[in-house]
Amino acid sequence: MQERDKWDQIYRNSDITAVPATVLKQNACLLPTQGRALDLACGLGGNALFLARHGLETEGWDISAVALTKLEGKSQSAGLRIQTKQVKITPETFLHQAFDVIVVSRFLDRSLAPAIMGALKPGGLLFYQTFVVDKLTRFGPSNPDYLLQRNELLTLFDALTLVYYQELSRIGDLNVGNRDEALFIGQKT
Ligand SMILES: C[S@@+](CC[C@H](N)C(=O)[O-])C[C@H]1O[C@@H](n2cnc3c(N)ncnc32)[C@H](O)[C@@H]1O
Repeated sequence: MQERDKWDQIYRNSDITAVPATVLKQNACLLPTQGRALDLACGLGGNALFLARHGLETEGWDISAVALTKLEGKSQSAGLRIQTKQVKITPETFLHQAFDVIVVSRFLDRSLAPAIMGALKPGGLLFYQTFVVDKLTRFGPSNPDYLLQRNELLTLFDALTLVYYQELSRIGDLNVGNRDEALFIGQKT
């Protein structure tokens, strides 16, 4: 099955709700009050809706037309403007693009890291949150290719200035905290 069909089927048959990533919601004070924002591999666009509500000119890119149609319905009924793009994201997708904010949650394609950083304006912020290889729950991909190694976001985006990082790993009381994902914010300086 093609990648697009796979994701379309997931979104057609699911009752998932659109929620913003913790790294974005808990650090919203860092967002500029105006400018261009991108929710990359947005799915139902929990991040895009949050960014548009914050007043940013927002785009959501994803391979799934079904997810984007649901996002368009939600943004229209909320009176928000979000520009959607159905695309299989490659480094070329970022050509001639410049964003003040890029958010990536629960999506990992390492080959896109240079293009993501290249598409940030000077001073622009990258919010990234996705699953780690030593996650504790069944949530997230089982294929280790789509899971972060320890501290990997710090390496992938080491050309950015670090603003925030959290990876609790398996230290201490495992019943407390998000043990499944790494959270990163970096700024292009
Ligand atoms: C686990 S979902 C995460 C969606 C959203 N970012 C979130 O946090 O809820 C992964 C998303 O990546 C999209 N996706 C997967 N491969 C893609 C590709 N090559 N190009 C564009 N989108 C892709 C899927 O359609 C899906 O919406």
